[in-house]
Amino acid sequence: MNTSNTFFGHPIGLRTLFLTEMWERMSYYGMRALLVLYMTGAVTGFNPGLGWSQVESQAIYGIYSGMVYFMVVPGGWIADNILGHQKAVLIGALIIALGHFTLAIPIEQTFFLGLIFVVLGTGLLKGNISTIVGQLYDGQDDRRDSGYTIFYMSINIGSTLGFLICSYLGEKIGWHWGFGAAGIGMTFGVIQYIQHRHLLGDAGMHPNDMSDEKRKKYSNYLKFSLVAMFMVIGAGLFGFIVIDPRFFAEQFAYFLTIVAGLYFLYLFLFAGLNASERKNLILLFLLFIGAAAFWSGFDQSAGSLNIFARDYTDLSISGYQIPVGWLQFANPIIVVLFAPIFAGIWAQLARKNLDPSLPLKFAIGLLFMALSFFVMILAVNLAIESSPVGMQWLLLTYLFQTWGELALSPIGLSAFSRYGPKRYMGQMFGLWFLASAIGGVLAGLLGGEALDGGLETISPIFEFMIQYYLVIAIALIVLSFVIKTAKD
Ligand code: PHE
Repeated sequence: MNTSNTFFGHPIGLRTLFLTEMWERMSYYGMRALLVLYMTGAVTGFNPGLGWSQVESQAIYGIYSGMVYFMVVPGGWIADNILGHQKAVLIGALIIALGHFTLAIPIEQTFFLGLIFVVLGTGLLKGNISTIVGQLYDGQDDRRDSGYTIFYMSINIGSTLGFLICSYLGEKIGWHWGFGAAGIGMTFGVIQYIQHRHLLGDAGMHPNDMSDEKRKKYSNYLKFSLVAMFMVIGAGLFGFIVIDPRFFAEQFAYFLTIVAGLYFLYLFLFAGLNASERKNLILLFLLFIGAAAFWSGFDQSAGSLNIFARDYTDLSISGYQIPVGWLQFANPIIVVLFAPIFAGIWAQLARKNLDPSLPLKFAIGLLFMALSFFVMILAVNLAIESSPVGMQWLLLTYLFQTWGELALSPIGLSAFSRYGPKRYMGQMFGLWFLASAIGGVLAGLLGGEALDGGLETISPIFEFMIQYYLVIAIALIVLSFVIKTAKD
């Protein structure tokens, strides 16, 4: 085998995507770890922040996280019908870099503009780059799944780099240095992508076949939507419309839920599905709820838990105060350490025919999430007695959350592609990201609610979350006995 033309035994184009995604996630997670710290930071003193309230800042964080993944849906449509996936990734990466550099400008006025660029760029990049990964392989090539596993590693290497560099610079030198570092990271990704894009060959090169007339119609839709969107954004940025972050976040959460609900309903009633496809759709609907609930806890790592780390946790190691964001290293490091172990456990169980079904794995993910917030409640109680508490509490929380992630996230996407109605395959991808979007905005709303009254208001919210994790987990366990997925 000519190893110089492969990447760990995979098509060499995977290397291009691996490095692009690594730098993109470096910039995404690196910046995200600074976001609420910057918004809620005191306006005076060394490294002044914006001095905004917890409720507002967490809501903005939620809107941002929700928008990033919501935009993956139109981003996929644009790539499918107009740009092709390769070009969409390039344009997306450039817009992301522009966003981070905008945030690096040390004034408050450009803050939202920077976030909007990152949202729009990520919408074009994140889903489409994952699609190209799949297209590197021929129809039946069984390396595809392990290709996605390698790709998942790039995500975690990227976020580790992001926390390391951006949190250090942002917290210890100045926020805007951290944002700038995210921009430089993304720029490395852009340069690398431009240099090595040819290695992708035809994968993701061309948009769907259609008549010139139809394509023209589609690009007109796009132009019209872009103009309308920039008018709304402009009106917001120049203060013609005043937006209350919390109200907006709530409406956005309803909007996303209604969009997802209507889409499921449409598929169920009007897509001409047969009985077994309908049964699978009910399963996907429950998995969707499970995933949205899961991310609503998971995404609090850079939200409420980040604040808990800053305000109530002792961050000194041998006299050195580590940056707050460094605690989030736990997630990617645990992913890399435990991913092979989880894969091994599932494989062992499968050999004995005991491999947990999809709903059961999702339930396991939610139970770990519940456990992680139970640990947090213990930590909060301790902090009420005497603050700060040790780092081990957050580390244990992240350990459980990451075990949950490993049970739920890697199989989620493939579940949607395997059990989704065949003719709607492309959109199943969008649906999976829509669950993350709902989770993201809920994370901001719940996190804001939790921190509204300092330590005292945290536990009731976390208890409420534990309750809904348990309810959904039990529903999924019951369902796993009732619905046996129809094999395709
Ligand atoms: N760590 C994952 C990533 O950044 C989390 C995630 C899963 C995000 C699913 C979106 C959708 O890719």
